Amino acid sequence: MLKSIGIDAGGTLTKMAYFNEHGQLMLESFPSNDLQLVKEWLKQHPNVEEIGLTGGRTEQLREQLETMKSIEYIVEFEATLKGVQYLLVKEGHQIDNAIITNIGTGTSIHYMENGQHVRVGGTGVGGGTLVGLATLLTGHSDFKEITKLASTGVRENIDLLVRDIYQGMDTPIAGDLTASNFGKVGITATTEHPQADVLATVQGLVGEVITTLSIQFAEQKETAYIVYIGSTLTDNEDLQKVIANYTILKKHNPIFLQDRGYAGAVGALLNMNK
Ligand SMILES: Nc1ncnc2c1ncn2[C@@H]1O[C@H](COP(=O)(O)OP(=O)(O)OP(=O)(O)O)[C@@H](O)[C@H]1O
Ligand SMILES: [Mg+2]
Repeated sequence: MLKSIGIDAGGTLTKMAYFNEHGQLMLESFPSNDLQLVKEWLKQHPNVEEIGLTGGRTEQLREQLETMKSIEYIVEFEATLKGVQYLLVKEGHQIDNAIITNIGTGTSIHYMENGQHVRVGGTGVGGGTLVGLATLLTGHSDFKEITKLASTGVRENIDLLVRDIYQGMDTPIAGDLTASNFGKVGITATTEHPQADVLATVQGLVGEVITTLSIQFAEQKETAYIVYIGSTLTDNEDLQKVIANYTILKKHNPIFLQDRGYAGAVGALLNMNK
């Protein structure tokens, strides 16, 4: 019977993980600005006895839940790494060291080695940036709409590529690399661009900043692998492509987990069954 659940209350989404009666891992998510929904879910699942809790919205969720259940808190980075290790094995990856890049509302980057981990850095450019810039530039604020529209867009009229600068000469680095994200707009002084193109370019910017940073840490730590997680990658082929292409170009191996948004929730769940 369902007794324990893990919850990762993040800046944007609150993720939940539990094992059902067949031992299958079940995953659900709720918007963090409506934590009442989590409370309602729990009322509908009265068998839940204990909750593993993590994420920056932990205290808000605690207030919502009052003293309904027994709660075991775990620090977000611990939970995430526990979850990543579990999901890597579950999904058949055999690696013992990697950079872990969590593209949440913001982006947090870790180095994992033999079950240990350290936070190596991060950037404020993340999923929140994607949605924020998309909203400002196009009026679209729904993540699904943004990613759907972005997938039909092209970046070539907005981004400036290396070959756009080195016209008629050999380029010092690959010509199709981005020289300047959004850089063509200022040079051509064109203000009219289809929304899809603008959104595709925002995805490119976000993906490339995150990948550039992740690669630098991978080089510093001398690891071949970068595991990219976080809900920003959910049903977002295009962002994955931006990240994968650039990571591979820089001679590292990108890994995308299937349950990419749920590492923290899974870790919070496993923390109770230790
Ligand atoms: N249904 C959705 N609603 C809103 N954003 C979504 C949705 N699905 C995916 N996203 C994207 O995922 C991002 C949030 O990712 P994630 O859930 O990993 O972060 P978080 O845990 O809430 O934030 P943080 O870890 O930074 O506190 C959003 O910024 C958005 O880009
Ligand atoms: Mg998070």
